This record gives sequence, structure tokens and C-alpha cells, in this order.
Amino acid sequence: MAMRVPRDASLPNPDPSADSPSAALVNEHAPYMVATYARPPPVFVQGEGSYVWDVENRKYLDFTAGIAVTSLGHSDAEFTNLLTQQAKTLIHASNLYYNPWTGALSKLLVETTRSSGGMHDAARVFVCNSGSEANEAAIKFARKTGKILDPSGEKTEVVSFNNAFHGRTMGSLSATHNPKYQKPFAPMVPGFVQGTYNDINGIKSLVTEKTCGVIVEPIQGEGGVMTGSEEFLVALAQRCREVGAVLIYDEIQCGMGRTGTFWAHGSLAKEAHPDVITTAKALGNGFPIGAVVVNDFVGDKIQVGDHGTTFGGNPLACRLAHYLVGRLSDETLRKGVVEKGRLFRDGFDKLRERFPELITEVRGRGLILGLQLTEDPGAIVKAARERGLLVITAGTNTLRFVPSLVVSEEEIAEGLEILGEAIAATR
Ligand SMILES: Cc1ncc(COP(=O)(O)O)c(C=O)c1O
Repeated sequence: MAMRVPRDASLPNPDPSADSPSAALVNEHAPYMVATYARPPPVFVQGEGSYVWDVENRKYLDFTAGIAVTSLGHSDAEFTNLLTQQAKTLIHASNLYYNPWTGALSKLLVETTRSSGGMHDAARVFVCNSGSEANEAAIKFARKTGKILDPSGEKTEVVSFNNAFHGRTMGSLSATHNPKYQKPFAPMVPGFVQGTYNDINGIKSLVTEKTCGVIVEPIQGEGGVMTGSEEFLVALAQRCREVGAVLIYDEIQCGMGRTGTFWAHGSLAKEAHPDVITTAKALGNGFPIGAVVVNDFVGDKIQVGDHGTTFGGNPLACRLAHYLVGRLSDETLRKGVVEKGRLFRDGFDKLRERFPELITEVRGRGLILGLQLTEDPGAIVKAARERGLLVITAGTNTLRFVPSLVVSEEEIAEGLEILGEAIAATR
């Protein structure tokens, strides 16, 4: 167990300077990298549990988990062992042939989805390589379903919501109605319509006979940790059934145990269950994989040749994901997530009392949590990092917390203490 290090509000972990080994490495490599990200100076080389270390051996408590990915923490012993074993056995043979692990993962995902209170009619799985790809497949499945239900070709509209994030490929981007992401790459794929998240009254005119699919995050991650209300999701699901539209829950960020239920929608009434679930991120704990879980309403309409992927479903990724589904659906772990979420919230409430002009709201569930601030969190993120804590932002002025699900009580206390120091230092 990690020792709690006493800290004061000095800078025990300042960002690497311009003449540091980190800067030398970055200066050598960055010119060869397409500049898609603005990264801070540290260069991470190692991880264990909730901690990562940089090239200069600075230690950071990681409340980002690689953006809600490393739910079992860094370097989980059994995960690493299976990775090594399977890498020595069979990594890839292509989807032209059967292997034991694509099917085993599919079966386990379906069984776990049903037994955990999620999508009660889950039936089959398509395995791919990322979240965007999972959403891309889900959108294609919805379009195909629409074509079969209405051969006139009129049923092609895909509905998604404001503040949603569904990915960066052209289809998933077209469902991500954010000018920051869409504008440089316009025109988008035709037929994508935007609605207002949690607006029950708007559903009827938004979702019509022309709608083939509706994609929605039960909890919006990138959008600022916004929770979909049960009434909204029930009404949306009912309307989808009325007009024969495929309801897709994007659980790429909020799923796989992060809220304390295996799927975030697992706590909702059965009427709110979707036809499709998309997942990725924690499904691989850092090893690239995505998956689409469908019911027979959708699965029956997808035939040989409709969709494919070279890497998706390879035995290495699937064996790892098979292990992760088992670990992340474990009852003790899920109860722990709820308990740890409470500890975070208690700490956030205290911070809110201490900085009432800064923190206006605490949002989320389990270990997907957001602190709504009245200012850009950039300075706080940097001050936290320079005190050994990694946190990320989301939406508009939201600090987002998506630590590993095995984060300890001591680590939560340590992180909250650093966060308080970081906020104080930026006042
Ligand atoms: C809800 C949601 N959907 C889709 C994606 C895209 O996943 P990927 O980056 O693996 O393509 C993300 C990534 O942040 C996400 O949070």
C-alpha cells in the first residue's frame, strides 16, 4: 500500500525545466509527431497501481487513469501475465478464422450484461479496436436496420445530443455536434441530427419515423460529467420503440464498473434499456479494443460481409478483455467503487465549503465525477501536477476525476489533500 507523504503548499514536483532530460527528449521527438495534442512537460515511463513515474523519476498520483482506461490500475500483475502468455501463444490470425477468445469474450459480455441488470436482451457482440470504431459500427448497424424496416430509404437519420462526445472518425464525429471538433473537417456525414440532453419534451419531434438510430451517453464524460436523468432515458427508449429506431448507449467512458454497476444504465428501469451498447477504454485497460453489444432486433439484420475489421477480435486483445470483464464485474470491486465515490464526494463537499466562489457543483456517480468551477481549470491542473497529482478537465470549466477503480482510500485522501493545496495556491 502506498505511503502517504506529508506535503505542504510548496512545489515538490515542479514541471521539468527547459534544460531537463525530459525537455531534451521532447525536443528531439516532437518535430516528428503530428501536433494533435498540447502536452505538459513530463514524460511518463512507468506505472504501478494508481501511480505513474516520469523519466526524471518524479512520482504522480494518477486520477485520470489514461482517460478512464486503466480501471485496474497500471501494471496489474495478472493482466500483465496474461498479456505475456497470450503474446507467446497467438496474437493474431485474422477474422477469417475462429479463435477461442473472440467468442469467449462475446459470450461473457452478453452473460455479464444480462446478469448485471443491464440490457436484458443482449444477444451478440462485434469486437473492434477503439471507441470511435465501436460507435462507427453501431451507427452502421442502425442505418442497416433502418433500411430493412423502411426500404424506401427514408429512415436514415441518426440523433445525438448537445455536449456528447462519440469519437473522431467521420461517422462518430458527425454525431459529436461540437463545432470545435467538427468545423475543420466539414462537411459531416449527412443525416445527423442534434437534440438537447435531458429535454424530455423535445423527444417527440426529435425522434421520428425518419430516425434509424439514437446514440446517447447515459453519463456524458467529455461533455462535463453530465448525468442523463432516468425519466429522459426511459422516454427516449419508449420513443425509439414507437418509431422503430435503434437506441445506442455509448458506455465507452461511463461503463465497465465505473459507476458502481457494470453498465451505467444497469441501475435504470428495464424500459430504459438500449438495443446496442458500445464500449472500449476500460475493456482493454490500455490494450486497444472496442466492442458493440447488440440485441436480436439489431443482430438479426447484420449479415456476413456487412462490416469487418482486420485487427478487431484478435486473440490477444480478447483474452485480456475477457479477464477485465470478469474483474470489473466483480461485486466486491463494484461495492468499493460506490464507497470510494462517496469518499471523493465528501472531500469535494469540504473543498466546496472552502472555495465557495470557485466550486459550484459536484456531478457524476461512482468514480466518474466532475467538479464544476467558475473558471478555466488549467492553472489548477498544472498546480496539482506540480504537487504530484494528475487530473483532467472536461466540458466547460469542469475538473474531471476518473481514477482507477482500485484506487485506495489512502490515495483518495492524498489526492484530495493535494487538490486542496493546488486550488489554494492558485487563489
Ligand atoms: C463516450 C465516448 N465515446 C467515444 C469515445 C471515442 O473513443 P476512442 O478515443 O477510443 O475512439 C470516447 C473517448 O473519449 C468517449 O468518451
